[in-house]
Amino acid sequence: MHIDLVRSGSKPLPQQISETLAQRITSGLLQPGIRLPSVRKLASSLKVSQVTVSKAYDELESRGHIICSQGKGCFVADKKRRSADPGSTWQKGYDDYLPRAQLWRNFDYSRVEYPFHLAAIHGELLPLKDIGDTMSLLVTGQPELMASYGNFQGDIELREVMQRHLQARGITVHASELMITSGAQQGIDLVARTFIGPGDTVYLEAPSYTGAIDVFAGRGADMIFVPTDHEGMRVDVLTRLCDRRPPKLIYTVPTFQNPSGVTMSMARRQRLLELARSYRCLIVEDDPFSDLYFLKPPPPPVKSLDEDGHVVYMKSFSKVIAPGCRIACVAAGGDILSRLIAAKSASDLGSPLLNQRAVLPFIARQYDTYVARLRTALRVRMEKAVSLLKKYAPPGITWNIPGGGLNLWLQLPPSLDIGQLHELAELEGISFLPGDVCYAGNTPSRHIRLCYSQMTEDNMERGLKLLLGLLDRHLKSCH
Ligand SMILES: Cc1ncc(COP(=O)(O)O)c(C=O)c1O
Repeated sequence: MHIDLVRSGSKPLPQQISETLAQRITSGLLQPGIRLPSVRKLASSLKVSQVTVSKAYDELESRGHIICSQGKGCFVADKKRRSADPGSTWQKGYDDYLPRAQLWRNFDYSRVEYPFHLAAIHGELLPLKDIGDTMSLLVTGQPELMASYGNFQGDIELREVMQRHLQARGITVHASELMITSGAQQGIDLVARTFIGPGDTVYLEAPSYTGAIDVFAGRGADMIFVPTDHEGMRVDVLTRLCDRRPPKLIYTVPTFQNPSGVTMSMARRQRLLELARSYRCLIVEDDPFSDLYFLKPPPPPVKSLDEDGHVVYMKSFSKVIAPGCRIACVAAGGDILSRLIAAKSASDLGSPLLNQRAVLPFIARQYDTYVARLRTALRVRMEKAVSLLKKYAPPGITWNIPGGGLNLWLQLPPSLDIGQLHELAELEGISFLPGDVCYAGNTPSRHIRLCYSQMTEDNMERGLKLLLGLLDRHLKSCH
């Protein structure tokens, strides 16, 4: 079993080991019944003392993650009393390098009727017919597109469309400074695998996007979560933290942040960029939601202020037009971009040309009119969800009113056990995102994220009423 340890860091080694294993257990990568390596074996493979590993195992046992018995060893506890699959024991013991994968939690989504967990838009609101029609025309009229690998950096025609799209949003770059990726998720992954290694300091908002946390954890980064308020990341706190631990990279979702919905003020955007300049580090600005504002447009992207290439900007078209096409655009400067293109070529030799050409005419000609209608539809959903919360939410539950985006971030009373609520909701076919996955380690959270746009309006209403009823009953039973 491999665990990246930061030996010069401030966190004690037993804690690093127990936190990493706890993450692998809670995310389902280490399943119930799996036997952990013996203290001696793990100590020797990690080149630490047996006392260090014993302390880590004691901590895991005291938290109920594992059960140890004299002479037999330590096993992952079966919190749900599910038996491990006996047929795949060799696979379970096969070493991997995954630290956690919260997006792949052990939750059976196949039975979910009311999916509040994914930040996505229901197909009835997306331009699937337009994109599908273009795709059919391409398949029949230009089948040779499927015979080509395309370009590592992305189709030049699409990059030119993207260049105009970004220009209209205040970002002035040349098409040669853009790269097309298979979703922003791949963009984050490429940045991390190119520039982040074990022990590198990455600052993120607290809470942050779980997919980014997974990626940085996978690189062995030392993630530091910066508090946020109604103006987004507390850049004053970040500045003080950077004095002690200079940043290698700052990851931010400044607009309608996932999961909290908060938008960073213009003043903080400027200060954040100044900070990155003074530390000569990168900012990853992940911006999937800025076109989805309800009343007034958000401040311009941090990238629009960037004169010397400190910001790697990611614009995903997943949320807004078609997640299945996996199209996003990355804007970055000079040498940073050329290294990212090298990483992209090693990763997949370029995104599918057919998909790139399928979204191109829509983004070039219909996007702006379409997105104006989409904003209204999303605002109606958000207001509906908020009115249901006002009517049916039990006392002690609070929420934000987002200025745009897809999510509500609810704070639940401390007496409520969110893990239990999650299991009860599963039985009723309801899913939501528990807030703890939006932090690294075992940070307990009193929040849950609900996406109001992933269902038809009727289903959203039914599902939310059911969930709030469940919350009410569960709260009463906790008292
Ligand atoms: C903040 C954020 N960034 C990136 C992604 C991934 O987007 P994509 O589908 O473009 O990979 C998501 C998806 O939920 C997201 O919320």
